[in-house]
Amino acid sequence: MKVCVIGSGYVGLVTGACLASMGHDVVCVDKDPSKVDAMLNAKPHFYEPKLEELLKSCVKDGSLTASSDLQEALKGSDISMIAVGTPSADDGSVDLSFVKAVAEEIGTFLKTNDDPHTVVVKSTVVPTTTQDVVKPILEKTSGKSVGDFGLGVNPEFLREGSAVSDFMTPDRIVLGYEDETAQQALKSLYEGFDCPIIETSYANAELIKYTTNSLLATMISFSNDIAYLAEQIEGADEGMVMQGVHADRRLTSITGDSKAEITTYLKGGLGFGGSCLPKDVKALNYFAKTQKAESEMLNAVLNVNAKRMQQVAANIERILGNVKGKTIGIAGLAFKAGTDDVRESSALKLIEILKAKGATLKVHDGLVKDDFGCERCDDLKALAKDSDMVVITTPEADYKNADWNALAKSMNTPNIYDGRGVIAYDEAEHSFHYFTVGKAF
Ligand code: UDX
Repeated sequence: MKVCVIGSGYVGLVTGACLASMGHDVVCVDKDPSKVDAMLNAKPHFYEPKLEELLKSCVKDGSLTASSDLQEALKGSDISMIAVGTPSADDGSVDLSFVKAVAEEIGTFLKTNDDPHTVVVKSTVVPTTTQDVVKPILEKTSGKSVGDFGLGVNPEFLREGSAVSDFMTPDRIVLGYEDETAQQALKSLYEGFDCPIIETSYANAELIKYTTNSLLATMISFSNDIAYLAEQIEGADEGMVMQGVHADRRLTSITGDSKAEITTYLKGGLGFGGSCLPKDVKALNYFAKTQKAESEMLNAVLNVNAKRMQQVAANIERILGNVKGKTIGIAGLAFKAGTDDVRESSALKLIEILKAKGATLKVHDGLVKDDFGCERCDDLKALAKDSDMVVITTPEADYKNADWNALAKSMNTPNIYDGRGVIAYDEAEHSFHYFTVGKAF
């Protein structure tokens, strides 16, 4: 099929490249000419494993091209996919201005297009958006009705760091549609995928996406709530508590011989960040209020997350005393391991708090190159040297496998605060002071 993907951010570019590699004929559209140039040169403008190789082969064999001319790109396409950003507005609602602008442009194209065409909303939008916002814009600008053209919703479930694999081997595909043209187009687009395909209404498709991310965020906040409680109880260890919880047969995988992957979200840490979880929980929470169905649960999930770094900073102060003039090394700046994305990163929140208290900060991250006004260290040796504490903020393999005994020797005071529980600490083997989340000290 000929697919026009509009918006070449994280979701649009990964989707475009993956669809092209599956044999579709894809044009990725972006207003930003530098992004278009980068795509034509097979260079992603962000780091994502496997994406560059995929782009190279698709650009080379001609299955993927890029353009900043939307009307031209839409010509002859079977599907246009709206994959533009839906940022949080100040009040927590979703800013739909990019979605609306693109819908207008597609409507203009549809006005004179006589061939079958389906518009697909890929961007994350709250329930009722497709029905009450996108559909009326398309119908008004085209002078046609859904049925004359197709309209569908197809949310993404891509994790940063494994987005290409998530796309190519999905756990589910959600297709929201209410007309036959969209049904046929969406089913042809995903023909050959071996996973459950959930065919449903626009509103359900939109809500599945938000509910999925809200569940993950809820599990994280719940675990951090328990971790904070355990931090107050002499002899308690939330890591051990969660091992006991994970052993519940309902949390083991279908084969029953290993833990279900979702149990990683049931573990104390530093809270959730990134471009999706905070934004999506805020948006659903705001939307629930507008529907007079205010969610006490989502309010709590956000409140626990907002407090988490204050709690961690207070723990650090309990260990070091007044942090003014103390040197603290932050191992990990990204919002999670394996990415260079720092949006809503817990590490940056901690840096802000500690800086305001007068601490001197050193930072290390294998992928993030910015220093955020701190001393940037190229390796853990430089980070540890003369520091009063090192705080591990992401579960990077390099942090897990580092020789912390050797590193601790060069520290001013050998304090390691393991914010993600990555070190397999053994009192007999380790010669540094070890503190971790979910454990009193
Ligand atoms: C998430 C969803 O997982 C994905 O399905 C959706 O499509 C987009 O949003 P992503 O933002 O890449 O993906 O991050 P994820 O791996 O889920 O982590 C989100 C946040 O939760 C990160 O800050 C991470 O550090 C934190 N997290 C994650 C934990 O604190 N504990 C965990 O066990 C896992």
